[in-house]
Amino acid sequence: MRPVALVTGASRRLGRAFAEGAARSGHDVAVHYRSDPAAARDAVAALVALGARTEAFPSDLRAPGAPGRLVEAVLRRFGRLDLLVHSASPWLEKPVEEVTEADWDDVFSVGPRAGFFLARAAGPALCAREGAILLVSDVAATKAWPRHVPHAVSKAAVEALVRNLAVALAPGVRVNGIAPGIVLPPDDLPASEVERLVSRTPLRRAVPVEDLVSAALLLSANRSVTGQVLAVDAGRAVV
Ligand SMILES: NC(=O)c1ccc[n+]([C@@H]2O[C@H](COP(=O)([O-])OP(=O)(O)OC[C@H]3O[C@@H](n4cnc5c(N)ncnc54)[C@H](OP(=O)(O)O)[C@@H]3O)[C@@H](O)[C@H]2O)c1
Repeated sequence: MRPVALVTGASRRLGRAFAEGAARSGHDVAVHYRSDPAAARDAVAALVALGARTEAFPSDLRAPGAPGRLVEAVLRRFGRLDLLVHSASPWLEKPVEEVTEADWDDVFSVGPRAGFFLARAAGPALCAREGAILLVSDVAATKAWPRHVPHAVSKAAVEALVRNLAVALAPGVRVNGIAPGIVLPPDDLPASEVERLVSRTPLRRAVPVEDLVSAALLLSANRSVTGQVLAVDAGRAVV
């Protein structure tokens, strides 16, 4: 029987790339999505074409109890879990003056809070398979991004969660994080702004999706690494 991966936010962009990477590395894949069933169906079709057994699971991870119910549904369908990738995350750009309490709640409930409850619910099944958790952070976690304060702070919390879960779930489950730099910029970010950001990055390039995904899978597969956050960012975190 093939190992099983649950990937959150897997219907599009990077979440879908993590899901396809997991399928290429031999996993069956549970595709979590929230709002776009058509995109989830496309992702499922792509994974089937890669030879994976797969199914889409809708869930708004802000809802009380939703992370636990998602894991239960995946275990009912697949019977095992080997890898949990928590990629879902709201993208919020607002000046400080406009940020609301609801914005903070959204960002934190989908990021670190759902990450915690997904990991807790998945822990026993992952432990049974010497499995792994990968939480998706952002270089923002270690920066000051004044137009993205809740996002940056929630990613710092995600990185703290990596360290805490790595100890809480040891020795049965390894927990790591990945902090992408510029991979797929937001659709509404002007090309000139992307160029400006890339020109200030040491390697002077955006990160190809395949570099991010291969690093994520390598990190998750290594049986001696836990509690680490790997920046895959063309050097952005160090400037
Ligand atoms: N793109 C980059 O270059 C980049 C750089 C650094 C870090 N990252 C991180 O990488 C991850 C993926 O990035 P991305 O650019 O692919 O993200 P994205 O396009 O903004 O997609 C966000 C995902 O989060 C899901 N989501 C949002 N709110 C949710 C909720 N309340 N409940 C459940 N799911 C929810 C969305 O689901 P629906 O679409 O179904 O609503 C979507 O799949 C994120 O953690 C992001 O912070 C990305």
